[in-house]
Amino acid sequence: MNLVVFGSGRGSNFKAIVSAINNGTLNVKVSCVVVNIAKAQMIKIAKNNNIPVILVENKNKSREQHEKEILSELNKYNFDLVVLAGYMRVLSAEFIKKIAKPIINIHPSLLPCFKGLHAQRQALEYGVKYSGCTVHLVNENVDAGKILGQAVVPVFPDDTEDTLSARILVEEHKLYPRIIQQIVDGEIKI
Ligand code: GRF
Repeated sequence: MNLVVFGSGRGSNFKAIVSAINNGTLNVKVSCVVVNIAKAQMIKIAKNNNIPVILVENKNKSREQHEKEILSELNKYNFDLVVLAGYMRVLSAEFIKKIAKPIINIHPSLLPCFKGLHAQRQALEYGVKYSGCTVHLVNENVDAGKILGQAVVPVFPDDTEDTLSARILVEEHKLYPRIIQQIVDGEIKI
């Protein structure tokens, strides 16, 4: 299975996917990454692993124009699955239709709770005792597609947004490669 990974920043989930490929626990290939921010650390990780980078910045562009440019670049690659890993742009329904391949995302909460930005802060403000992360299919609604897998972490009384985010991130790095491998193995149908 060939993946395209979309991201905008730090790229720690992308790094976890690449590490799982390199240590043989994830049996996929990353055809290329799509990045919308020129200084995204993800670019460096891709280059270190000889993975082609498609950089299409969205500054001063309509969503339609930006997505059109991405699609025309992606035409040059073979892929079966689109993996969003910290991609900070909402995909239009049109783009989801045109890309014509399943798209998955990882979100730092137990969906359907705390959709959108600052999910960890939302969890702390609500006062939940458990939170976690969710891998889900992407549809035209934000953080709303079918849930494919989740991991749970406790929330402690003295947690800050940073400590909770770090605890969740450890689980994200295990969950995302595991769910992708389960898709490859046909254990999860998408
Ligand atoms: C992660 O917390 C992920 O759940 C969310 O964006 C963050 C991306 O982090 N969608 P990274 O770029 O993978 O380090």
